[in-house]
Amino acid sequence: MRVLVTGATGFVGLNLLAAMGEDHEPVALVRPGSTTARLPDGVETVEGDLDSLGGALDGVDAVVHLAAAVYAESAMAATNVAGTERLLDAAAEAGIDHFVFLSTIGAHPHVESDPDSAYQRSKVAAEELLFEADHPFDVAAVYPTYILGPRDYRLTRYEHVRPVAANRLLVPPLYTYDEYNVVHVEDVVGTVRHCLDGNPGRHLVTGPNLTTRQVLGTIADATDGQCHILPVPYSVMRWGIKPAIDLLAKVGVSPVGGAAFTERGDYGTVPPALTERAPVAQRSWQSALTDTVAWYREVGIL
Ligand SMILES: NC(=O)c1ccc[n+]([C@@H]2O[C@H](COP(=O)([O-])OP(=O)(O)OC[C@H]3O[C@@H](n4cnc5c(N)ncnc54)[C@H](OP(=O)(O)O)[C@@H]3O)[C@@H](O)[C@H]2O)c1
Repeated sequence: MRVLVTGATGFVGLNLLAAMGEDHEPVALVRPGSTTARLPDGVETVEGDLDSLGGALDGVDAVVHLAAAVYAESAMAATNVAGTERLLDAAAEAGIDHFVFLSTIGAHPHVESDPDSAYQRSKVAAEELLFEADHPFDVAAVYPTYILGPRDYRLTRYEHVRPVAANRLLVPPLYTYDEYNVVHVEDVVGTVRHCLDGNPGRHLVTGPNLTTRQVLGTIADATDGQCHILPVPYSVMRWGIKPAIDLLAKVGVSPVGGAAFTERGDYGTVPPALTERAPVAQRSWQSALTDTVAWYREVGIL
């Protein structure tokens, strides 16, 4: 089966290409000017983007749609919604059999999405394009939480690892009260391949909800760090330390580079009632973290 992969040069795309076997022969959609040096040797490429697909779908049997504007808010509507619509239209015209979309946990119908997040709004809109229309092919969507693992060349998770590896003392409110739900990129890739094998519909890829202490403790073990987290209760942080930091920020002296640091961060947590994990054998959240640390070491940045 020939599979067009959009977003092939990104974190998930590079991991997917590395895992695709003979059953799924990838064709990587690569934007003009984007680097192809990290693609596995011998992978077929086709130049184009979601605005101008050209003949990218000629002769393909399936599409895995990973490409998205993840950080650039101004590009989200055009890329994540209009771009997805164009790709769906082109896929229908090309007569493909399977369309697999990489969504996000916040766009799953059983998870409350954040209306303030342009990213989540764009993924919810894409979800409507997928499931509220009749398509002449199978449609599958994958909903991962916070993905970790190797080949994240944009280093999007580095700031979680670097302070621990540097053996710093972690002082709340900087790091201690965030909440996470972490999955291994290989679980996401395995689920995408499961969809290509004829399993349409919605597929969650989740782990247990985790505290920052669990996440940072695991990173500390993996980096042989001697990191300590000061056990300041949340209430002391929220009603004592945070107002003090806010006041210092107001007078132009911010010890943490901005009072926003003191808010509780949510990195992909799921409602407790949502116990579904992934339709494939999953790696542990600990291995997602330790493999990320190992990869940072491998590329020489730890
Ligand atoms: N990483 C996570 O934790 C996470 C969690 C949940 C869901 N997801 C979803 O997983 C997918 C992949 O994420 P990722 O982490 O791999 O992102 P990434 O590393 O930022 O990669 C994004 C990819 O999309 C491509 N792209 C962006 N705009 C495009 C356009 N207009 N036309 C064609 N290609 C375009 C990029 O190409 P260039 O290389 O040329 O820039 C790159 O290949 C996304 O849909 C994201 O929403 C990710």
